[in-house]
Order: sequence, then structure tokens, then C-alpha cells
Amino acid sequence: MPTVAMIGGGQLARMTHQAAIALGQRLRVLAASADEPAALVTPDVVLGSHDDLDDLRRVAAGAVAVTFDHEGVPTDLLHALVAEGVNVLPPPEALIHAQDKSVMRRRLSEMGLPVPDFVDLDGPDAEATLRDFFARHDGRVVLKAIRGGYDGRGVWMPDDLDDAVAVLTRSVADGTPLLAEARVAMRRELSAMVARSPFGQGAVWPVVETVQRNGQCAVVIAPAPDLSDELATQAQTIALRLANELGVVGVMAVELFETQDGHLSINELAMRPHNSGHWSMDGAVTGQFEQHLRAVLDYPLGDTRARAEVTVMANILGADSAPEMSMDERCHHLMARMPDARVHLYAKGERPERKIGHVNIVGAPGDDVAAVRERAERAAHWMSTAVWTDGWDEHGRE
Ligand SMILES: Nc1ncnc2c1ncn2[C@@H]1O[C@H](COP(=O)(O)OP(=O)(O)O)[C@@H](O)[C@H]1O
Ligand SMILES: [Mg+2]
Repeated sequence: MPTVAMIGGGQLARMTHQAAIALGQRLRVLAASADEPAALVTPDVVLGSHDDLDDLRRVAAGAVAVTFDHEGVPTDLLHALVAEGVNVLPPPEALIHAQDKSVMRRRLSEMGLPVPDFVDLDGPDAEATLRDFFARHDGRVVLKAIRGGYDGRGVWMPDDLDDAVAVLTRSVADGTPLLAEARVAMRRELSAMVARSPFGQGAVWPVVETVQRNGQCAVVIAPAPDLSDELATQAQTIALRLANELGVVGVMAVELFETQDGHLSINELAMRPHNSGHWSMDGAVTGQFEQHLRAVLDYPLGDTRARAEVTVMANILGADSAPEMSMDERCHHLMARMPDARVHLYAKGERPERKIGHVNIVGAPGDDVAAVRERAERAAHWMSTAVWTDGWDEHGRE
């Protein structure tokens, strides 16, 4: 069987390896250290750095494709690999749209797709450009690092112009180029996940609602409740069109805003398995991790239908201080109380706000969305903190 190599040893690589096992394969990973989530589970680990060409060559040697668990690999190194005959998927020309928010914004506007108004803040006139943009949008602006941000790190919502200028000044001093964009008056956030193979087959999952807390994804409801057929189809069409026109291979998440006046606006793209697709591991006929492998291997893509009327995913985050009760014991109690909870743990240390796992609850026919969501969040909160949000006493003592 073929070997796929993945750059990065985080939870996305770990869960891709899990899908590789079912396909009779094992994933090779490039990990920074032996205790990263994926390095702990696959025997085929190359220890090294994603910004070292020799390390990238070592992990690529003999692999049928090289793909990604994060978007941090420098573009020039990817081009060097391609020039040496490595099958980099998604290709660097596509991946750049998930690495560079400015390139992505420009390309999407050229394609006539809905994006928030934006401007690059670079060069000597950056402050004047920011002041002008700020005034034009009545101060409703968001500042973003063009490269390198994730989980809301690299996104600032300034309170006023002085605050915005301070963010810019700090970023110029750190050498972090920024862009400014209009702050979207939104009803909620959505994600449209799509997969595309080199053959050109495309497959989209149902559009989901994503709930962010502190700039990072906390909960996903699949499919997005009460989304009109028109907006759902529009979001799926955008995802398929982007996958095709950008030449994506693998899975891609298209993060969207549903605006208060009922339109879609595209936030950003991720060309790898994504937090908004974790529900599909238990809630769809084909999960995103297997689909990513199928796509990079140019296998026919799997059925993306939901298995239930509703599936809710809730992230397990590291608590402010790790509870005294061990993770093992928390797991035991969760299973005792919620036999239908699907737990996915990443074997990561518990640090505040860090994503260390997730729980999926696949609803039964007729289940109320709010009730399924409450159970998923209750389970995830328990796993984080060893506290039941409804006051339940796991030892039956009142
Ligand atoms: N233009 C915007 N208007 C309103 N909220 C935004 C805007 N851009 C980003 N956000 C909020 O910030 C979050 C993180 O921004 P995003 O660009 O997706 O960064 P990251 O790369 O960290 O995921 C979004 O999920 C959304 O909640
Ligand atoms: Mg995002």
C-alpha cells in the first residue's frame, strides 16, 4: 500500500493516521518532537522542522504524496520539493490561498466572490491607509496578520482608532505584515467543507454552523440549523468552485459569515482537515480524515451524507488549571453517564485554552438540536474541568 507523508505531527495528523489504518496504510509524519500527538501513534516518524528543506526531503522520500497538518511550510521550500519531483498536495499554488490572507482576499474578489472590504497595511503609508479605512467603516474593522495566524492568534478587534494604530505599530516593529478588513455584522459563522481529487472529483459535506469562543472554534452543529436551502447551496457551490479553480487537492474548509441581512461573506480557507469537519468522524458516512487520504491518493471520494438529523461537536479545551481528577477517571465517568458520547483525545498536555480533544454526539431521530448541543458541551466541559455544568455528582452524593 502507498505511503502518504504529512508535514506536522499534531492532532490532525494523528486522526489522519487513524483513517490510514483502516485503509491498510500508515501515515508518515514530520514531527518536531517524539511526543507530538501523531508521533506517538505512527511508527513512521521523521523528526525535524517544517522549515528545513532537508527534513522535508527526508519525509518526502518514497512517499506517493506530501500533504499538511498545518499551513506553516514556507512557499519557496514547497516549490523546491515540487521541482525535485515531489507530489505536494495541495500544490503550493493552491496552498498559498490558505497561507496568505492577502493573496486569498485578492483572488476571491477577482473571482467575484463575496468577501469583506479589505486593504493591505504595508509600506510607509500604512498608518494613513489604516486611518482612512477606519473612517470609511465607522471604526468597525478587524486587523489580521497576513500570515501565520491560527485559532484567533493574529486577529485583533480594535476598540478605537488609537488601539488600531497601536496594533499596527507593534506589528510593524515585530515584522508581522497586517491587513485590515471590515467587521462583518453577522448572524453566525458557517463552514463548507469540500474535498477534491486530482482526477477532478469534488464532494461537499452538509454546511455546518461553527461557534467561536475567544477567536477559536468551540462548537460545531451539523448541519447548520435552519439554514435556508438557498444559502446552503450557495455555500457548497462556492466551496466546489474554489476547490476546482484554485486546484485544491485534499480537503478544504471554507469559513463563511452569514450576515445579518441574510447573505454570505467568505472569511478564510484552510486546505487540510479542519476543526469544523471533526463532526464527520462520527456523523457522516465518510469522515474528513479518510476523505483527505482518498483525495491525495486519487481514490474515488466517499459519500459525504450526514448519518443523522443533527451531530454536535464540542472541543475539549485545557482548563485554566488542570483538574485534580485524572483524564483517565474523567473519561470513565463520561462513559458511565453518556454511553453515546464519542470521545476523541489527542494525548496533549493540558494547558489553558489548548485544544486537547473533542466530543461528538450524534443525535437520535427526532432529537432537539439544542438538547444535543447541551449534551455535547456538557461532556466537553466535564472532560476539560471535571465539573458537570448541570451540577451532577458523579459519585451519587448530594
Ligand atoms: N471581518 C470579520 N468580521 C467579524 N468577525 C471576524 C472577521 N474576521 C474574523 N472574525 C472573527 O475572528 C475569528 C478568527 O478569524 P480568522 O480570520 O478566521 O483567523 P484564524 O486564522 O485565527 O482562524 C473568526 O472566526 C471570526 O469569529
Ligand atoms: Mg479561521
